Amino acid sequence: MRRKSSERFWEEEEFKGFYDALVRESSLEEIARYPQHGSTTRLMHCVAVAYYSYRLARSTKLSFHWEELVRGALLHDYFFYDAQDGDPAHKWHWTRHPHIAADNAKKELYLTPIEEDTIRCHMFPLTVKPPKYREGVVVSLVDKACSVYEFFSRRAPYPKLRGEMTASELVSSRNEQPSPGIAFLLPEMAGKRL
Ligand SMILES: [Fe+2]
Ligand SMILES: [Fe+2]
Repeated sequence: MRRKSSERFWEEEEFKGFYDALVRESSLEEIARYPQHGSTTRLMHCVAVAYYSYRLARSTKLSFHWEELVRGALLHDYFFYDAQDGDPAHKWHWTRHPHIAADNAKKELYLTPIEEDTIRCHMFPLTVKPPKYREGVVVSLVDKACSVYEFFSRRAPYPKLRGEMTASELVSSRNEQPSPGIAFLLPEMAGKRL
């Protein structure tokens, strides 16, 4: 295996490991039940933001806290309602949801300062406080890029990132029950090569 593809392989394995560990500790896959933009589920959005944040950070020479970057990105929209259902309780959703997501995550997990700040500040500059750490800056930028992309690719976003999982792969490692919403996985995470 050439050096470059070998590095990519281990980075993808690392990303997959971070994802699997978080799924075991939390209800992350439940957010696949909710729409995000167009035909994108919230889980697909969060996985895409995490994956591209990780890839963007890896493409720099900078040092990052890799697991905290991925966990903060995966949890940045960790809320359990349809934001566009017209419910008055969801008024000001766009500025409130970072704190709802962080509070939801903290009910299940210990969040490091980097993870919590990444989640709470990801909507900057729509919210007042900018991210304090470079991990949060990357996630905030990639979140905006993914959101714009999903809006304009409403029918089939992330064609290269979609992969079908087999029934056995749908078994959640957390509760041994079929995971209800997840119907995709990054091909890299399913062991397929693009
Ligand atoms: Fe968000
Ligand atoms: Fe988002």
